[in-house]
Amino acid sequence: MNRNWYRLKHTETTKLVWSKSMSVGNRIIDAEHEKIFFLVNKVEHAIRAKETDAVFRIFAQFEETVATHFNNQARIAEAIDHPFEEHHQEHQYVLSEFQAIKTELLSQNGKWSESAAEYYYCFLSEWATTHICMDDMKLKAKLETYPYDFIPPGTH
Ligand SMILES: [Fe+2]
Repeated sequence: MNRNWYRLKHTETTKLVWSKSMSVGNRIIDAEHEKIFFLVNKVEHAIRAKETDAVFRIFAQFEETVATHFNNQARIAEAIDHPFEEHHQEHQYVLSEFQAIKTELLSQNGKWSESAAEYYYCFLSEWATTHICMDDMKLKAKLETYPYDFIPPGTH
């Protein structure tokens, strides 16, 4: 078997790809989820390549995107009368975890090991997948009773 083919295949399968089956029934939330997947892939690439500047630039973008997403999601959940307290606590925890990872990476200044890179990537990709496919899926039934383009006031 051609080894490069295997490596290419392996790299491809570790990438997060958003698909329509992950739709939670709202355009804003879906678009943000897709962006989150895109940024997790970019962070992973930068971590593996040990491109310290890129790691922090993309990580900051990732954190900002997630924070905006949490706010929009909370607004939408409130507008459709979906209980959100549990989500809110999870969001606070996740944002502080991201902060901790960033601080850890910063202190290592590009000298992290392959296994550390693997750990950070797994943490981020697992969080992103669980967040979309399990946590946010709970909103789907209710969101589907609204138009796909539903935007409550104050959403950015
Ligand atoms: Fe979400």
